Amino acid sequence: MSLKNNIQENLLPNHIAIIMDGNGRWAKIRSMARAFGHENGAKAVRQVVEGCAELGVENLTLYAFSTENWNRPKLEVETLMRLLISSLRKEMNTLLDNNIKLCTIGNLNTLPKKVYKELTEVMEKTKLNNRMTLTVALSYGSREELVNTVKEISVKVKNNIISAEKIDESIINEHLYTQNLPDVDLLIRTSGEQRLSNFLLWQIAYAELYFTNTLWPDFSKEDLYQAIIEYQKRERRFGKTSEQIR
Ligand code: IPE
Ligand code: IPE
Ligand code: MG
Repeated sequence: MSLKNNIQENLLPNHIAIIMDGNGRWAKIRSMARAFGHENGAKAVRQVVEGCAELGVENLTLYAFSTENWNRPKLEVETLMRLLISSLRKEMNTLLDNNIKLCTIGNLNTLPKKVYKELTEVMEKTKLNNRMTLTVALSYGSREELVNTVKEISVKVKNNIISAEKIDESIINEHLYTQNLPDVDLLIRTSGEQRLSNFLLWQIAYAELYFTNTLWPDFSKEDLYQAIIEYQKRERRFGKTSEQIR
């Protein structure tokens, strides 16, 4: 029986973010090149996107490529960029058929022109979709995002558009790449690593963290359900006492 039946529909996380890790190790176990792991990772993406949309999760954010990942061997970076283009082409209709809107966060200026073009095309075609927002973090680093935010706010302060005294959490939120997204409720990381690797540091302030040893290419809908069931067992107190929550 599917674990899906154990999920409480009224307690779904509104925003799930995933650090999709372990593609390289998955390939290594099979004595294959890392690229093979990334190709199979793309299949897991489809499972999770579908799984979230079917459940009614409104926001899914996937960490696909970090600012630090630019330091990988040139060939691997090229493979990842090529895969990105082919996945976007392949999945476009799935996004349209399922009423899913594609967004991105990260420093898109650093992406190869071809990737940028493909991305903007899919974002344009899906912009009116409203069942779920799928955000792909590409050339994304939380520190880079915060630096960018500080710069943007500083310029506005300098030009008297914002007064320094008025800067608060909501103004910071409005200047992050994630400006239209709610805070993360559930953060999942695969492959057994227990670190954040520069992902959404501000936005996960009160997220529930879920780590699994499953390598990303093996991550299935059932793994997603298991993470959500675990999330639903947690008591989110936001600084209050247990008694105040109940
Ligand atoms: C995640 O898998 C994909 C990216 C970071 C782009 P990895 O490529 O990091 O796989 P491991 O961690 O080496 O197994
Ligand atoms: C984090 O994975 C980035 C993505 C999943 C895109 P990494 O595999 O790059 O993380 P570290 O460097 O091992 O922490
Ligand atoms: Mg990794």
